[in-house]
Amino acid sequence: MMMFQGGSVKVQKRLKPLPLEALKAMKILPVAADSMGARSMCTFVETKDCAILIDPGVRLAPWRYDLQPHLEEDERRSRMWHSVRNAAATADILTVSHYHFDHHEPDAPSIYKGKQAFLKDGKFHINRSQRERATAFVKALKKYPKEIQVSDGNALDVGGTEIVFSPAVPHGYSDELGYVVMVRVAQGGETFVHTSDVQGPPLKEQLSFILDSDPTVLYVDGPMTHMPDHYPEEMTNRSIANLTRILRTTSVRTLILDHHPLRDREWRARMALVLAAGEDHDVRVVTAAEFLGKAVDQLEANRDRLYGFEPKKEERDASERVRSPFP
Ligand SMILES: [Fe+2]
Ligand SMILES: [Fe+2]
Repeated sequence: MMMFQGGSVKVQKRLKPLPLEALKAMKILPVAADSMGARSMCTFVETKDCAILIDPGVRLAPWRYDLQPHLEEDERRSRMWHSVRNAAATADILTVSHYHFDHHEPDAPSIYKGKQAFLKDGKFHINRSQRERATAFVKALKKYPKEIQVSDGNALDVGGTEIVFSPAVPHGYSDELGYVVMVRVAQGGETFVHTSDVQGPPLKEQLSFILDSDPTVLYVDGPMTHMPDHYPEEMTNRSIANLTRILRTTSVRTLILDHHPLRDREWRARMALVLAAGEDHDVRVVTAAEFLGKAVDQLEANRDRLYGFEPKKEERDASERVRSPFP
């Protein structure tokens, strides 16, 4: 449907009003997130058929502004990890999108006890460091899970709930950092998609899984605007264009935008086009914290302030060179 506004042509997105029962059919609960104070995209999804916990892990940036984590961040991480453990106890299915430590926790294999585990393939479409981590992780899991399956390209139905995993897609704009697996959970007219670390999404193969899924609620990790040395501006622009296209052309009603952009104090300015596109297309664009009705609390982005100082701009630019960008 075409609309004319102020002389410009605007394509209106498809609108699919959902029945009230459908809105209640799926519970989506971010358990830990950067907007809540530590690195994570851990999400609990519950339908009438099953409960799924996506990426049970929480970590802190080892270095930011040349500073190690502040005590407040350590405390926050502990609290969030406690929530992740509780969520895991309630879930039937635990998924791991890739082997960075903000997405799985190798030191707590017992949370997988009696669960169905869907894990990123540890042998194919994986880089060396994550292959080693995957091998160690599966070894540590021992007999805890009821069942372990490779998630890449996998799918299952639990009652009326459909769970579909994407093929492995690059972790970002290249496969240098390995690959991740996205997941879709659909039930009763609601479709939730969790992208994991696609870092945007900047690539067509990441975008196409999202477009094909036609989500009603989408959780994306967004571009890495706080690390211009590692993530070129062109990729931010591509990601913003892709996110805008998703907002324009899918059934999405809520976009949860969190993880990488929230490591940037100026994230609202950097994501202004996405926020504006959300308003244009009647999509709520929120962080995980805001999705839960809480205020955003960016502890990592404010680590310098937590330590009681804020360097001058030129000092900050130098210290922004992150020593170890990925946990
Ligand atoms: Fe990652
Ligand atoms: Fe991550």
